[in-house]
Amino acid sequence: MKPLNLISVSAEVSPYSKSGGLGDVAAALPKTLAKFGHRVIVVTPFYGFMKNQEIPQEDIGEGKVQVGDHSYTLKFKVSRPREHLEVYFVCNDELFGHYQVYMYGHTNDAVRFYVFDRAVLVLIDLLYERQRWVPDIIHCHDWHTGLTPNFWSLERGRDERFVKTSTLFTIHNLPFQMQGNWWDVPEDKRDDGRGLPTDDPRAIRWLNFTRRGIMYADAINTVSVRYAKEILTPEFGQGLDRLLRRREKDVFGIINGIDYAVYNPQFDPHIWRRYDWNSLDRKHKNKRELQKIVGLEQSNDIPLVGLVHRLTEQKGFELIKQALPVLMRLSLQMLIVGTGERDYIAAFKKAAKKYPKKISIFTPPIGSDINDELSARVYAGSDMFLMPSRYEPCGISQLISLRYGSIPIVHETGGLSDTVVDFDPRTGNGTGFVFSRYTVEDLLIAMVRALETYKYPQIWEHLTWQAMQESYSWDIPAEKYVQLYRRTLRIHEQLRTTG
Ligand code: GLC
Repeated sequence: MKPLNLISVSAEVSPYSKSGGLGDVAAALPKTLAKFGHRVIVVTPFYGFMKNQEIPQEDIGEGKVQVGDHSYTLKFKVSRPREHLEVYFVCNDELFGHYQVYMYGHTNDAVRFYVFDRAVLVLIDLLYERQRWVPDIIHCHDWHTGLTPNFWSLERGRDERFVKTSTLFTIHNLPFQMQGNWWDVPEDKRDDGRGLPTDDPRAIRWLNFTRRGIMYADAINTVSVRYAKEILTPEFGQGLDRLLRRREKDVFGIINGIDYAVYNPQFDPHIWRRYDWNSLDRKHKNKRELQKIVGLEQSNDIPLVGLVHRLTEQKGFELIKQALPVLMRLSLQMLIVGTGERDYIAAFKKAAKKYPKKISIFTPPIGSDINDELSARVYAGSDMFLMPSRYEPCGISQLISLRYGSIPIVHETGGLSDTVVDFDPRTGNGTGFVFSRYTVEDLLIAMVRALETYKYPQIWEHLTWQAMQESYSWDIPAEKYVQLYRRTLRIHEQLRTTG
């Protein structure tokens, strides 16, 4: 079949910018699709902190986006990291260039991403003028890019040049729908999504980008099969479940993968001893080194539980906090790596002081090299990996932990439920420990089951071996995206011909 022309739009793309899983996905999926022979164009903002990175790039042109009576001049630069893959940076210092650390969370985010979403259309025009290039699919990731399908559908829907071009909107995390919190928007300011978005700079902050992405994209997907079902319910739908149910036949779920060139204990440069499932004794050496550098007792008999997460309520830290007094009475060591909400950091730092033999916490900034190194060492050196997220669209960390043979203990939700199989001691099947009710008791029961199993080294080794053999490379999900792109083209064609 003919290779596809694809545009992938995302506010973050690793290694240039990354605050979480989105940055990984927006990098690895295009890379895999390019490897398959599709031509992929990635579009992302050029943030201030990227000025220090040595990115080979070439100016390719300029464009303008008007917001009220202010006109923003944008420059486009391109980098070509591999065959069939180009990364276009949208540059404007006023909007993106001043940001040295955080990519978002600013009071003008709505205007910044309004302009970015429009810039995608400007870039497509430029590519058409230059090369007669026509995208088959414009693939938009998460709220920051939700207006692109809206502009596209209402302004280009009937454009002769682009009759086939279709749009896909991927939801990575539904509570994030716009600048600020959707639930805090006063009733009379709530965006119903109809028509073109306002260009009044004072009103742009009330736009619900995600709602518009869902309304105007030809197809919608999310990052696991289970989360795709969950978001159709009021419990997980974040006020958009009715809209999603209306579009149910166009809502799909595809689980993420991880980049095995990056996350692989056989080659990982950050860990002390490289290993695979045939050399688990080397994993134990990583454990002892890790215990040493974080100040925990060096012993193989005490199970080491790793956590590499943003310290937020979503990731289950409320539950862990409540369970802590009991956890601290069990025979285990806990090691937490990540930044996040101040209250959680304070609470766990306090616990680390009180129980220095049992718990250690490190908070290196996201995106720093120390963070990458320490995280890899936790995956490699820990026996278990705790991830009791309240909800989880996909989750990347549990996929990495499986790969590194750190047995995941997870809440049965979203992508966690799709990727971790509960261990059954009678049959020996399973890859982790799964609990279904989001309660302290259920979390503790799963922990105790894991700790008890750890007492039997042969069984534990068998479990580790099984976990490490799971395959979550991007090849399979990327192939599913290709199928979804073709389906999106068909949905678009049907809509176009039936009006
Ligand atoms: C968001 C979700 C996470 C998912 C990631 C990438 O960060 O919270 O579950 O893995 O996006 O899709």
